[in-house]
Amino acid sequence: MPKVNKNGLIKLALKARQKACAPYSKFKVGAALLAANGKVFTGANVESASYGLTCCAERVALFHALTTGEKHFTAIAVVARIDGGAMPCGACRQLLSEYAPDALVFISDSDHPSAVREFTIRELLPGAFVFPQA
Ligand code: THU
Repeated sequence: MPKVNKNGLIKLALKARQKACAPYSKFKVGAALLAANGKVFTGANVESASYGLTCCAERVALFHALTTGEKHFTAIAVVARIDGGAMPCGACRQLLSEYAPDALVFISDSDHPSAVREFTIRELLPGAFVFPQA
C-alpha cells in the first residue's frame, strides 16, 4: 500500500520543480509519479536552445521510473505557477496512457498547493493511439 498521499505527492512535485531547467520559458514544472509499490519518481522540465527538444516534467518523471524498472503506477502530481495548475500536454497524455493508464493525475498551482484538481488519464486522453497488433 503506497504511503504517499495526494498532498505528499504534491509536496514532492514542488521539490522536484526547484530543479527545472527552464531558461527560455522560465516556466518551471515539477512532477512526482507514484508507483504501485509506494516508490516515488520525480522529474522537472528540461528545455533546449533548440526548443523542440524540450522535455516536460511528466515525461522526465515517467522515463525516470520506467528506466529503473517500475511498471505500475497509481498517481502523478504536476505543479506549476499558473492559476489552477498546468494541464499535461498531448505528448505526455499519450505516454501516460501507454505506461500509466490507471494513474490519477493531480494538478496544482505551486502557489496554492493545497488546491488540487484531479483527473484520470482516460479523461485526459480518450481514444489514445494504440499500436496495431500484428
Ligand atoms: N511543460 C511541462 O513540463 N509540463 C506541462 O504539463 C506543460 C508544459 C513545460 C515544457 C516547457 O519547458 C515549459 O513548460 C513551457 O511550455
